[in-house]
Formats: sequence, structure tokens, C-alpha cells
Amino acid sequence: MRNLTPATITQAFADYARNAPSARTRELLVSLAGHLHAFVRDNRLTEAEWNSAIDALTRAVGFTDNKRNEYILFSDLLGVSSLVDMVNAAGKGTPSSVLGPFHIENAPELPNGGDLWKGQVGEPLVVTGKVVDDKGDPARGTLLALWQNAGNGLYAQQDSNQHPTNYHARLGVAVDGSFAFSTVRPIAYKVPDDGPAGDMLRALGRDAWRPAHLHMIVQAPGRKPLITEFFPDDDKFLDRDAVFGVRAGLVLPFKRVADRAALPANLAARDTLPMPVWTATINLALPPL
Ligand code: BEZ
Ligand code: FE
Repeated sequence: MRNLTPATITQAFADYARNAPSARTRELLVSLAGHLHAFVRDNRLTEAEWNSAIDALTRAVGFTDNKRNEYILFSDLLGVSSLVDMVNAAGKGTPSSVLGPFHIENAPELPNGGDLWKGQVGEPLVVTGKVVDDKGDPARGTLLALWQNAGNGLYAQQDSNQHPTNYHARLGVAVDGSFAFSTVRPIAYKVPDDGPAGDMLRALGRDAWRPAHLHMIVQAPGRKPLITEFFPDDDKFLDRDAVFGVRAGLVLPFKRVADRAALPANLAARDTLPMPVWTATINLALPPL
């Protein structure tokens, strides 16, 4: 291997990996090295340019802890998280989307019809919907994990003035698959852009906005969890989501309702919500098993 050239180094890398214990890992790493080598060759990358990439990854360490992960943010902003989601998508039923960093396990249980808003800052929103399986039958036993930002644009994890589980909940659907809850209308917000991933956005002339969204993980018995999120159709950032999470089937009308009698009967805050409220209908179809 004394006569390596830019043209032969990729094959040399593959040959070195011939004893890899896992064929799949070998395939992935050889492919990754091949793409990186092609990137260097095609762009005639300079040492200074490569060092600035290494420097960004090194600085990302300082922005990563158990509350924030700058590496995942790079993956999100580069579109890689979204692409991994899309290449694994079932192609049927409600589309999936990116998880993002703010989901928490074991959020408090919210009864069907329950209220997350509790009079906090922002405009109340009533969400109703139904979960059906791939045959259109009610997906009884389904648990919905719900999370979103508060009316000030911040997730509970970003705001010491919020209870750590504010706007995080787990809700079991009714036997007919239906569900309802009241919450705050989520608002567009900027992903954290004070680290090297934010520097990358600025270098691209991009900004850090995500359109407003409601996150959901739909866990039906015996099925893979469906990770998804829903967006109001009037959000001005729908066509420039910093993390490429918008899918046409996840964009919904949010409508104003002034008539209290039109709200679902099981809504705990039915008699107290200040009218008019925003309403959204989220009908979920599970992908085939
Ligand atoms: C979010 O959904 O809130 C999010 C997703 C990816 C990166 C940062 C935030
Ligand atoms: Fe989010």
C-alpha cells in the first residue's frame, strides 16, 4: 500500500475492512468513507476547510449535555434526521416525522378530554381526533404521547419558569379510538442556534425557525410507535422548516370556534375556556403492521 493515490485510497479503505465482523457495519462504513473521499476529491478540500469542520465538531462537545445534543442538531439541520425518517417511512397511513430533542419518557397521564392549557399564556386550542388501524377500525388501547412548546415559544426544558412536564402528557384514546384535549396553540420557534450548528445555518444564509407544531408518538398495542407532528396550515415557516420535518399530510387547518356547544362533551375545560378558541382535528391512520 505504498502507492496510494487519491483514486485508490477508497478501495484501500474497503480492503482494510475485509475482516469486519459485521457485514452491514462494513458496508455502511466503507460507503461513508467512499462518500467522504469523493467529497474531498470533488471539492479539492483545503486543510483549512477540513480543520474548520473538525473545529465545529470539537466545539459541539461544549454544547452537548443531558439536556442538549449539538450532534443531533447538526443531523437535524443537515436534513439527515428527516431523510432517515423518510427512507424508513411506511408510505401508508399518517406520515411520520422527526422526533426532536424535547420528548420525555413517562410524562404525566392526561385523561381523555383533559386540559394542558390551565389558563397559561397563549391562545387555547382544542384538539379532537380519532386513531384507526390500517383497516379503518378504531385503534383501541392506543396511547398518545403529546408534547409541544408553551405560549411563550419555549419547551418546558428550555424555561425554568415552567414545570418540567408542562405541555407534556400521555393520553389513552377511548374504545372508539377518539380523543380530545385542550392545550395552547403552539407557536413557531427557533431551534437553539448559539452553537456550531447555528454557525452552519448562518454560513448557509439560513435561519433557525421551525413552524409551530404539536408532537405526537402514537403507540398502538403490538405496533411500532409512530413518531409524528402536526402543523397549522397558516404558519409562515411551513416551507422553510429548519429541520425539514413538514410533510403535506401533517399540515392541518386550525379553525376558530365561538360556540361553546360545539366543543366535545368530554372536554374538562369546556365550560371555562375563553371563547373563541382554536380547534384542530387530527385523524390518525396507523401504517400497516
Ligand atoms: C423540535 O421539534 O422542537 C426540534 C426538532 C429538531 C431540532 C430542534 C428542535
Ligand atoms: Fe418541537
